[in-house]
Amino acid sequence: MVNRCAHKGALVCLKKKDNVASLSCVYHAWNYELDGKLKGVAFRNGVRGHGGMPEDFDPKQHRLRPLRVESFCGMIFGTFADEIEDVETYLGPEMASFVKRNLGRPLRILGTHSQMIHNNWKLYAENLRDSYHATLLHTFYTTFKVNRLDMDGGITLSERKWHHLSFARRAKMQEAAEYADAKVHSANYESALDGPGLLEAWEEFDDGITHSIQTVFPNMCIQFTLNSLAIRFFAPRGVDQTELFWIYLGYERDTDEQSRMRVTQSNLTGAAGLVSLEDGCINEFVQRGTRADPDQSSFIEMGGREVESERNSRATETAVRGFWYGYRNIMGL
Ligand code: FES
Ligand SMILES: [Fe+2]
Repeated sequence: MVNRCAHKGALVCLKKKDNVASLSCVYHAWNYELDGKLKGVAFRNGVRGHGGMPEDFDPKQHRLRPLRVESFCGMIFGTFADEIEDVETYLGPEMASFVKRNLGRPLRILGTHSQMIHNNWKLYAENLRDSYHATLLHTFYTTFKVNRLDMDGGITLSERKWHHLSFARRAKMQEAAEYADAKVHSANYESALDGPGLLEAWEEFDDGITHSIQTVFPNMCIQFTLNSLAIRFFAPRGVDQTELFWIYLGYERDTDEQSRMRVTQSNLTGAAGLVSLEDGCINEFVQRGTRADPDQSSFIEMGGREVESERNSRATETAVRGFWYGYRNIMGL
């Protein structure tokens, strides 16, 4: 339900979690059933025979606005659209099966946090699909060979192009000269971790994929880097403010040692993550850099002009083009 009182629109639910018999608005004490139906209106019949709601006041006409919700692999999706298909169809078979690979068993939440990023939400939606930047901006990835574009990998787009899956196989790396040619500094760092345990990992799946970023249009991402599994989703908080939420996950079947490894590896991502802290500022750099020139455009032709899957390389912006392809379609642009 939308958290907005049917009377004057105040927030009704003020806690993230609780156990209550009904929901009450603190402003004028309108009281709702847990399914959002209006149950009680304070002083509906007035006080001492005076005041109160008109005779024809009908509580059935006033309720918390419901959303259509559906649960898939432990996540709850919501929509205002009646005509939209179920989640699995919305994802398409290829995307749905990869979500099941990662989340299709009993999950355990290891931790959550959120951060405010100072950019429009669409820049973050682009950034998640921007496989080109990952090993250039994120020097940690390249230095410690967690993720490089010379690993076996590619990009799959969904049928409507707006969801994507970027995948890589860490064990299959053929060092490419381009890293040296392009002066990717981090590829040549002689660095070592004081705590090498950070990157200790075990192989979870027999497809060899050790790194995946999967987006669900418009505002969600499932990430599996080594053994660090996390869901991110974001909410616009203004033209240039976006709140980004992280949920770190393991499986119920994990041993304590496996949970510990996942928690340790979660240092890679998040607001201060060794890899993703740069994303928190780079989108703001774009926001600031583009603000003065609303008529200018980006140039996103890496990997060609097509909007198609590229199963052999992540040196492409095809998924970014896919986002805009989907966005323009749905917005009628
Ligand atoms: S705004 Fe909620 S009861 Fe008045
Ligand atoms: Fe990034």
